[in-house]
Amino acid sequence: MVTGKRPIGWSVLVALTNGRTRIPDDRLAAAVGGKVVLVTGSSYGIGEATAKRLARAGATVLLVARTADQLEAVAEEIRTAGGKAQAYPTNLAEPAAIERLVANVLADHGHVDVLVSNAGKSIRRSVADSYQRFHDIERTNSVNYLGPTKLVLELLPSMRKRGSGHLVNVSTAGVRTPPLARWSAYLASKSAFDVWLRCVAQEIRDDGVTTSTVYMGLVHTRMSDPTPLLNQLPGLSPEQAADQVCAAVANKPHNITPPLVRPADALGNLLRVPTDRLFEQYFLRTNRKKGPE
Ligand SMILES: NC(=O)c1ccc[n+]([C@@H]2O[C@H](COP(=O)([O-])OP(=O)(O)OC[C@H]3O[C@@H](n4cnc5c(N)ncnc54)[C@H](OP(=O)(O)O)[C@@H]3O)[C@@H](O)[C@H]2O)c1
Repeated sequence: MVTGKRPIGWSVLVALTNGRTRIPDDRLAAAVGGKVVLVTGSSYGIGEATAKRLARAGATVLLVARTADQLEAVAEEIRTAGGKAQAYPTNLAEPAAIERLVANVLADHGHVDVLVSNAGKSIRRSVADSYQRFHDIERTNSVNYLGPTKLVLELLPSMRKRGSGHLVNVSTAGVRTPPLARWSAYLASKSAFDVWLRCVAQEIRDDGVTTSTVYMGLVHTRMSDPTPLLNQLPGLSPEQAADQVCAAVANKPHNITPPLVRPADALGNLLRVPTDRLFEQYFLRTNRKKGPE
């Protein structure tokens, strides 16, 4: 976490690099009051903060993650505060578990109005450190790509039949900025779901199902915690990130993107080779193993 005194202009930097999309309580309540919203990855971090905010606004929130006791603790906290929440402990890396989840959810609630696909797994590892670890790439894909697609495939038929539904993808700004050494497995898996959903969006809109993607900047959660460099960079709190996710739920924009990401994306495409060389130099300078690996 970022600690100590912050330099002047820190909050402006945070807003430029991470965005500060907000949604007032009354607008959120008008959009989600009485709605059924399923939030994956709601045991911790952005998902937990999102579920709590949505429940305060009057939504019935369905909490999905693996850690059953933590998930139940979040649900209990919401219910104690007067909200409606139900925990569905599920490992999204298991397709059969997703089928059971959706069958149970539809039996209990009849339908889902909004899916917030937020659960995710981060990994920062050089390719040399991955030679004996293909399972890392498989696991990252099963949580960030295959699980989310399976969940959408299970929920879409009921949404299309009702003629309404909204799918929110909590993606990362990293899929829009130039590629970064060591983040290959994570960014490839997040990119895969991003592209998959944007293709699917064109097929389902006519049936009343919309999609929004939040290209989230840095958020200080247990996901970013293990990377010392990220702890020093300007980032959002989980509650600020939840504000963006809730804005996507209520306003249904095509995407929410931090201000500096669009020029970085354009510049990266325009100056692809020099940008690659720049990041290559950074990788070489910070790589603990020197020479070819
Ligand atoms: N933090 C950032 O800087 C940042 C930036 C951009 C985008 N994002 C994205 O934001 C999302 C949330 O990240 P976060 O920072 O809030 O991380 P986090 O605090 O680590 O939360 C991740 C959530 O995903 C759940 N999860 C992980 N594997 C799962 C699985 N196999 N099945 C079901 N649930 C699983 C975790 O719950 P259990 O462990 O209980 O299963 C947890 O609730 C992720 O998709 C991430 O890629 C984060």
